[in-house]
Amino acid sequence: MPFSKLHRPDSFLDGRDAVVGIDIGSSSVKVVELSYRGGNYWLESMGEAMLPSDAIIRKSISRGDIVSGVISSLVSRLGVRTKKAVIGVSGEAVALKVVNVPRMFLGKDMEKLVPDLVRTSLRRDVSGVNYSYTPLFRRNGKSEETQVLIAAVSKKTAQEYKSSLFSTGLRARVIDIDAMALSNVYTVFCRGRGQKVALVNVGASGTNLNVLDGTAPFVLRDIPLGGQWITLHLMEKFKITYEEAERIKFSIKGYARYDEIESVFADFVARATDEVKTVLDEAGEVIDRIILSGGSSRIATLADALGGVIGAPVEISNPFQNINVSDSRFDPEYIEHLAPKMAIAAGLALRGL
Ligand SMILES: Nc1ncnc2c1ncn2[C@@H]1O[C@H](COP(=O)(O)OP(=O)(O)OP(=O)(O)O)[C@@H](O)[C@H]1O
Ligand SMILES: [Mg+2]
Repeated sequence: MPFSKLHRPDSFLDGRDAVVGIDIGSSSVKVVELSYRGGNYWLESMGEAMLPSDAIIRKSISRGDIVSGVISSLVSRLGVRTKKAVIGVSGEAVALKVVNVPRMFLGKDMEKLVPDLVRTSLRRDVSGVNYSYTPLFRRNGKSEETQVLIAAVSKKTAQEYKSSLFSTGLRARVIDIDAMALSNVYTVFCRGRGQKVALVNVGASGTNLNVLDGTAPFVLRDIPLGGQWITLHLMEKFKITYEEAERIKFSIKGYARYDEIESVFADFVARATDEVKTVLDEAGEVIDRIILSGGSSRIATLADALGGVIGAPVEISNPFQNINVSDSRFDPEYIEHLAPKMAIAAGLALRGL
């Protein structure tokens, strides 16, 4: 099964086909169905359904029956018509690296070289993973070398995610990598050339990072820190349930011990910005813009803190900005509310079109 190939707008077919991107996150399943007709992308359906806290642990599906049931009822509630799905994976099961390769290897020799790169650069056993590569056509200063993205996903995890669709009637055409899906929306519609843009998706259990030079990713990383860190600390501090802690995160109005809650948020923001800065420092390039997405992008202080630490303006992602959305079918307020969470699901759908 192919995955992680760079999405190229010129490879699209103008047709009536729709594809549904299914982002199976630790806290919820997000679904975006897109079609391409009349030379435009259209939003066909979109929605989210929450998962119990033990359904996905460290990005591994531990309760497949529950995840399948949630996806089934979500796609039927939304009236998703297509059977063609693209799902994404991230976290420990995924290994990604951008490596320099002599240009003369691009082509047939690359097929022979990739298993070695998986072993040496990604440190994965070739028999246990699905792997792929994508030339990035980004030079590293030496004209005889070019950069290639190597990606590997554990076969066990890929199978777990695919299996979660079995009973839903959907077929996973492609398994993509969340960090790559994150850039699809940006690269398909990107007009500005040559900017260094950091796409930062802060979810529940993790943060996906994709740093682009123009439209070519050159740093891809999953950081195992997301908004669940706050949930777990609130649970421990106040001896409350997961659900209660999540409620406090959405609105702390009416809760006592306001200062203590604020300090848990502040700790998280400091940690998250620190982790992102470490990765961006390794990239060694000045970042022109940050585009922030994921449910935890809603944490009021995160965008400003990230902008301050990195020294770049931060925008909150709206993956539907360049996609036609019918006002009669979708409530604009609902779209606006969910949009930052939908960056990966929209990227997955675009990947399949
Ligand atoms: N208004 C809000 N304020 C604070 N946190 C929020 C808010 N809305 C959502 N979150 C947090 O965002 C997280 C969910 O984000 P998202 O849906 O992007 O994660 P996920 O895709 O389920 O997880 P992951 O990708 O890490 O597996 C949860 O931790 C949730 O508490
Ligand atoms: Mg997510």
